[in-house]
Amino acid sequence: MNKNKPNLNLAYSLETVQDNRELYAAWANDYENDFASALDYVLPNRVAQIFLDMGGTGPVLDVGAGTGLAGQALAKLGVHPIDAIDLSDAMLDVASKKKIYRNLFTSDITQPIATKNHSYQGVISSGTFTHGHVGPNAIDNLLSVSRGGAYFALSINKKHWFEKEFVKKFEALKDVIENLLLHNVEIYGENSKGEHCNDLGIVATFRKV
Ligand SMILES: C[S@@+](CC[C@H](N)C(=O)[O-])C[C@H]1O[C@@H](n2cnc3c(N)ncnc32)[C@H](O)[C@@H]1O
Repeated sequence: MNKNKPNLNLAYSLETVQDNRELYAAWANDYENDFASALDYVLPNRVAQIFLDMGGTGPVLDVGAGTGLAGQALAKLGVHPIDAIDLSDAMLDVASKKKIYRNLFTSDITQPIATKNHSYQGVISSGTFTHGHVGPNAIDNLLSVSRGGAYFALSINKKHWFEKEFVKKFEALKDVIENLLLHNVEIYGENSKGEHCNDLGIVATFRKV
């Protein structure tokens, strides 16, 4: 791979929201071939299945939806409608071609979110709470656009979980969420190769009170 081409190590080393915009603008068209297929990226399917298993229903907001892999997995499981939110227009352009999303919003989830529909019954996220991307405080903004009783299934890279002290965030949220469970998952499947093939994630599931 050309060392200037976007890749996972570059993605993990991003520092700002603008860095993310630029990397994903350059990566959008090749993301699924060069990253998701090449590394046997199974996390979106795991998040979708865990959401279904916890009893999650639509309308769902897919957070950091990217090219739509998690939304696609959720739609296959029969969950509708699904909206997408992501910082990157370029990633959402690819996602929109899949015709699985009701609405697609370009927005930075580290800031208060302005969507037309502020009452999601489900919130999922795959691969966005990770190194160089989004930290724990964005969860406040997701709670603000969901209704009481909403189901959440958010993946968090396991090292990022410890580095950014997600456990403290969940302690601080104890009066506004319930039934918090932490599911250990593999991010990549058995056909993955390379330095990240054994990387682990946590899928945090909970309900808004
Ligand atoms: C690794 S991709 C994951 C995409 C998709 N969910 C998946 O699993 O394939 C991370 C996504 O997070 C988005 N992202 C990064 N920072 C963000 C922010 N502050 N607000 C919204 N989206 C963000 C990126 O644009 C990118 O599409």
